[in-house]
Amino acid sequence: MLGTTGLDLTVFEREGPIQGKPIVISTWNFGYDANKKAWSVLSSGGRALDAVEQGVMVAESDLNNTSVGRGGNPDRDGIVTLDACIMNEKGEAGSVAAIENIEHPISVARMVMEKTPHVMLAGDGAKQFALENGFEAIDLLTEKSKANYKEWLKTSKYKPIINIENHDTIGMLAIDARGNLSGACTTSGLAFKIHGRVGDSPIIGAGLYVDNQYGAAVCTGIGELVMKNLSSFLAVEEMRHKKSPQKACETAIKRIIEKIPDVSNAQVGILAINKKGEVGAYAIREGFTYAVHTNEIEKVFGAKFKMPTEHSGK
Ligand code: GLY
Repeated sequence: MLGTTGLDLTVFEREGPIQGKPIVISTWNFGYDANKKAWSVLSSGGRALDAVEQGVMVAESDLNNTSVGRGGNPDRDGIVTLDACIMNEKGEAGSVAAIENIEHPISVARMVMEKTPHVMLAGDGAKQFALENGFEAIDLLTEKSKANYKEWLKTSKYKPIINIENHDTIGMLAIDARGNLSGACTTSGLAFKIHGRVGDSPIIGAGLYVDNQYGAAVCTGIGELVMKNLSSFLAVEEMRHKKSPQKACETAIKRIIEKIPDVSNAQVGILAINKKGEVGAYAIREGFTYAVHTNEIEKVFGAKFKMPTEHSGK
């Protein structure tokens, strides 16, 4: 498989612990190209916050990516609405929900964090704030996403396809040379959602959480499941209680599984990193991939997963 930069994107099985500093990790295969940009910031001594912002912007601008930014699939009314959030090493956070016509919601989220007393702006207010601050209004639909929508209209059935429509969010976590952590996530959300639906990606503690003392976590998949379980916050809490990032991810996914009666059409993937630069990754089911970039590693890995054959309710 080739990335947009033309490099091999073979998915590797993880053989041992992954660790590094500086380091950037991100969700799905498209994280590979995004990491490359983030790494250019980290390897030149830049701040993790700049790395994650610039990294996920690559996915936001990728017209072939139908689940993030420009080119993202629209909602059931044919409108593209985007969600994003960002957190820095000071525990500061910014977020935008259901924003329209803006190519880089992650940068608007950063501006909310840095220039307002608020954490989240939504809908028209988020767009107005972006336009007032120099962002350009553009049409986020592409020929490809218009064609996808036209096809969807033939049945108008809403049924996310695991690991395809669910490979939605790019979530990215980084540690810079100073040892500081930051994280970002950005998405067009579930394809053909009800207009106004907001997922986990702009919700601090759900789609993303960063605690510079202990670690950070980011989620992808069905946002409703993540929001109900505050999965990123839970994973960071686990690391605060000295669990490894891998164990923290497993706890967060198992908590989701415990709470839902039917996991047959559910996918959530989670990534975590601790202060030492150790990496964890886990998913409800097979198919979740993540990209890692350190001085030694530049690869896409298949995450471990737990797909119970039967839901025990325990
Ligand atoms: N995880 C992204 C969403 O559900 O919108």
